[in-house]
Amino acid sequence: MSVSETSAVQTPKAFKPRIFSGIQPSGGLTLGNYLGALKRFVEKQDEGIETIYCLVDLHAITVWQDPEKLRQQTREGAAAFIAAGIDPARSILFNQSQVSAHAELAWIFNCVARLGWMNRMTQFKDKTAGKNAEAASLGLYAYPSLMAADIMAYHATMVPVGDDQKQHLELTRDIAIKFNNDYGVDFFPVVEPLIEGAATRVMSLRDGTKKMSKSDPSDQSRINLTDSADAIASKIRKAKTDPEPLPETAEGLKDRPEARNLVNIYAALAGHSVDQVIQDFAGAQFGTFKPALADLAVAKLSPITTEMNRLMADPGEIDRILGKGADRAEAIARPILEQTKDIVGMIRSRQI
Ligand code: TYM
Repeated sequence: MSVSETSAVQTPKAFKPRIFSGIQPSGGLTLGNYLGALKRFVEKQDEGIETIYCLVDLHAITVWQDPEKLRQQTREGAAAFIAAGIDPARSILFNQSQVSAHAELAWIFNCVARLGWMNRMTQFKDKTAGKNAEAASLGLYAYPSLMAADIMAYHATMVPVGDDQKQHLELTRDIAIKFNNDYGVDFFPVVEPLIEGAATRVMSLRDGTKKMSKSDPSDQSRINLTDSADAIASKIRKAKTDPEPLPETAEGLKDRPEARNLVNIYAALAGHSVDQVIQDFAGAQFGTFKPALADLAVAKLSPITTEMNRLMADPGEIDRILGKGADRAEAIARPILEQTKDIVGMIRSRQI
């Protein structure tokens, strides 16, 4: 092979490491959001990587949201980020709808993604299961394409998420690859999902086979970041378990979803490995383990709740932080959107 032939082989462009992730302000945040996402967002920020975090209000309205509650939940979400350790001076923190590049790029991606790909999305199927799927919004169906736009508008290379978002990130990769192929460019990075740690899937406290979720009808199934210390302790005390003591090895948790969930939560909150927690509590009854977990959960979560309440007392300040974050986000996303439009063949001749 001649030198010119080898140099014609497209070597992938090196993209700057950049993290993007988002949380829907569609309800109060849960322990699942905290351990699967928020806590890890803070760790990534503290590792010194460029981090962009977003309250995805455009995603939230794919199902009905009361306008006043949406505003409140968006502010509460922002307060949770800051209370958990996100520093708006170091990370970019904003709400999605303030940066229109997300919606514009999502439209272009709607024209790249294939119906067959969308039809395979299990989250859409789960969200419409047992309901009239015909009555679901078109936005709910196109949701993953907007998510791809969120990430690609920043050329983000890494996305920390919980396990439930894995398929959406695979779709994001497929959209980026198809766009690059269709237009013969190496423009969008192929993103790397960061699904790490003991709590990538925190389960319901009432049913160890179901994900802990802000939309579960039972409040006992989840710990909310706004719960009081008493409520946290009581929910853990009442959490469903089996009658066996904790096993001697992590392997022994295999067919015990509720026990495994509580051990995983303990490990993630304490920053220990599951093996270490099992070593510390081998043979312990839940009567011993649950109070230890409740104490740990209260110690870790109560300061966040207190700080959230303090921040929520000044909604104007939260709005200012989101506005500044949106300005910084826009400065990155706008040129990427404009280059995308050029690649697609759209004329941009306005003088702005
Ligand atoms: P959302 O709002 O449902 O959840 C936000 C984050 O919390 C994680 N999570 C969990 N992790 C562990 N255990 C649980 N029980 C649990 N419940 C939720 C989610 O995996 C997620 O990381 N589509 C996204 C929001 C989004 C997004 C994005 C994420 C929109 N655009 C771009 C990353 C990048 C969602 O609905 O997350």
